[in-house]
Amino acid sequence: MRLLLWTPDAAEDAVWLEHLAALFPRARVRRWSPGDDAPADYALVWRPPADFRWDGRGLRAVFAPGAGVDALLPVVPAALPLVRLDDAGMAALMTRYVAHAVLRARLGCDLVAPSADWATQRAQYDVLGERDFAVGVLGLGALGAPVAGALAALGLETHGWSRTPKSVPGVTCHVGAAGLDALLARSHALVNLLPLTPLTENLLDARLFSKLPRGAHLVNAARGAHLVDADLLAALEDGRLAHATLDVLRTEPPAPDHPFLRHPRITVTPHVAARTPRAPALAQVAAKLSALASGASASALPGYVDRTRGY
Ligand code: NAP
Ligand code: GLV
Repeated sequence: MRLLLWTPDAAEDAVWLEHLAALFPRARVRRWSPGDDAPADYALVWRPPADFRWDGRGLRAVFAPGAGVDALLPVVPAALPLVRLDDAGMAALMTRYVAHAVLRARLGCDLVAPSADWATQRAQYDVLGERDFAVGVLGLGALGAPVAGALAALGLETHGWSRTPKSVPGVTCHVGAAGLDALLARSHALVNLLPLTPLTENLLDARLFSKLPRGAHLVNAARGAHLVDADLLAALEDGRLAHATLDVLRTEPPAPDHPFLRHPRITVTPHVAARTPRAPALAQVAAKLSALASGASASALPGYVDRTRGY
């Protein structure tokens, strides 16, 4: 088996190469370098450079060492099966990130004036603690379902939305346009964990915000292009939204003068909610490579990307 690897992180690639070589002692594993057009059976690729050549080297499948394949889909030839990570330890990390943001919203930490005196703050927290509060999670996949389940287990009224019907313990699950409206009407905190597709791009816009309870919190940990930036600023300005926690931005890294970076009611983190954990990701890729090498069909693997759905 010939395995070709590329991510922009050379040091991390070196570790992956070492582990893959140990797991597959008879395989030939290498990191792609400019001009490498040599044959390979499988490629493990994230953020490939423009001159990465896909055709003509005999590739049988491409693996993504991440969950979202929106950047890979336009460049990987349609004839090549694309397989992404399916959780691989990211759900637990994402759960912590989202739970932190949602619990801050539930407590009202971002709403209480930090300059107010002790007694005033206690009175404000009392009022905030008695508010009606529910959370909505957009996307109930490998990440969204465990995140929604964990929020429900914390005792929060939790709603979830997916393309096809789902059942998640403790979570009221919705589908379709009417289901989305029902979820939005109850989402004092709205969490986005959808894949970026033509149907979900720009979904977080003024129209959607207008369906949320006034003063809702937004948590976007999926992709920056889900969000219409100007509509977020306007919704914060007019009070429709109280606060936004954004792990992803339309352009990463953002320009130093990006209006979100110093906005008092936006918390930005640099795409760190669920970084691929190496050990479980390696184990998952190795198991899938073994399955393929033993004759399994790529389309039978968890994480196989269905191009008609776009995720
Ligand atoms: P996934 O397993 O493919 O789940 C996607 C979910 O979204 C599914 O429940 C799917 O519905 C639903 N969905 C897709 N299109 C929809 C539509 N048009 N209407 C309603 N629901 C729709 O993906 P995942 O592994 O959970 O990852 C989700 C996203 O998180 C990734 O694509 C990536 O962008 C982002 N991510 C971010 C980080 C970070 O560090 N910030 C890390 C990892 C991933 P069905 O279940 O019916 O198919
Ligand atoms: C990270 O954003 C991923 O999609 O894995």
